[in-house]
Amino acid sequence: MKAATTFALSVLALLPFVSAHGYVSQVTIDGTSYKGNTPGSSSVKSAIRMIADVSPVKGATNQYLSCGQNAQKAATVATASPGSKVSFKWSAITGGNWFHNVGPLMTYMASCGTAGCTSFNSSAARWFKIAQAGLQSDGTWAQAALLTGAPATVSLPSNIAPGEYLIRHEIIALHTAMTSGGAEFYPSCTQLKIGGSKTGTPNATVSFPGAYKDTDAGILVDVYDLVGSYVFPGPAISNLSGKTSVASSNSTTTASDSDSETSSASETVSSTSTESASASSVSISTSATASTSTTTEDDCEDEADAEPTQLSRRFSRVMRAVL
Ligand SMILES: *[C@@H]1O[C@H](CO)[C@@H](O)[C@H](O)[C@H]1NC(C)=O
Ligand SMILES: *[C@@H]1O[C@H](CO)[C@@H](O)[C@H](O)[C@H]1NC(C)=O
Ligand SMILES: *[C@@H]1O[C@H](CO)[C@@H](O)[C@H](O)[C@H]1NC(C)=O
Ligand SMILES: *[C@@H]1O[C@H](CO)[C@@H](O)[C@H](O)[C@H]1NC(C)=O
Repeated sequence: MKAATTFALSVLALLPFVSAHGYVSQVTIDGTSYKGNTPGSSSVKSAIRMIADVSPVKGATNQYLSCGQNAQKAATVATASPGSKVSFKWSAITGGNWFHNVGPLMTYMASCGTAGCTSFNSSAARWFKIAQAGLQSDGTWAQAALLTGAPATVSLPSNIAPGEYLIRHEIIALHTAMTSGGAEFYPSCTQLKIGGSKTGTPNATVSFPGAYKDTDAGILVDVYDLVGSYVFPGPAISNLSGKTSVASSNSTTTASDSDSETSSASETVSSTSTESASASSVSISTSATASTSTTTEDDCEDEADAEPTQLSRRFSRVMRAVL
């Protein structure tokens, strides 16, 4: 063990830790792209709330669990519609791809109220979950496909009422989650203005911090020795049932709308790195994304985790013991 530890430490010393984490560098809505600012800079007038640095948010009670490390209100809002396809491009601060590969992707929204998102403090947000993706049937995680540079894509609820909303896209990296506090949270918020005349409102909302506990089964978990299926933290996907929908003879589709919301609310990661809205998307439950998920990385702290072989598992266990 001592020799292994020394070996791991000498490897650690060579790795570029600064580039080890990431942020949302671009959001694309129905084909229109919105760039985000590199953490710490402010060169772009953006709809993406800029975080102060790319290190993970740690601990379920951390105040930055809502929108990321000391996230600042953004200057603009991006335009969207009920049912819009929204893609999130994750990048390392060096410009390379995201590279953690175990843990869920989840997406929440919250109304910014009548004042709008440019002045809305996310600590007051009431969030509802609209999508989540985790462990796939072939044993890989949806997150792993981000290593190819592919964006994660969600559909906004097709029945959502108009207004300004924060959309909170979150990666939880679980490679060190076998000890309490080890899970790495990467939330990112983008300001949206949704048009249309739908009436859907969430049936349940939560706060961040508040929605997670450090002891949740999906947060304190050894993903390298997972027993049974992965349990997503946070609430169920909201059904936006439009419970206060206008009493008119034309609003009889409410029930079927909400049925389709809940059954289709999954995240996808597209099969190529193109941001084009017309690029074909692959359902996270197919194996098509998985075949591209073990691309070699050159700026990767957790390279060992990217290859689920016995040798690399042992290596990553040593790394974790050291860390
Ligand atoms: C949001 O409100 C919290 C709690 O009042 C406060 O600590 C924080 O500074 C506010 N953030 C911004 C960006 O205004
Ligand atoms: C909200 O709706 C979802 C989907 O139908 C359901 O799973 C969940 O239990 C509901 N939440 C509450 C608080 O009723
Ligand atoms: C119902 O809504 C549809 C689509 O908005 C509209 O074309 C139609 O005229 C409406 N029918 C009634 C009876 O209001
Ligand atoms: C939506 O949530 C409400 C409140 O929890 C519940 O009564 C209703 O059955 C749910 N609808 C669907 C389609 O899940």
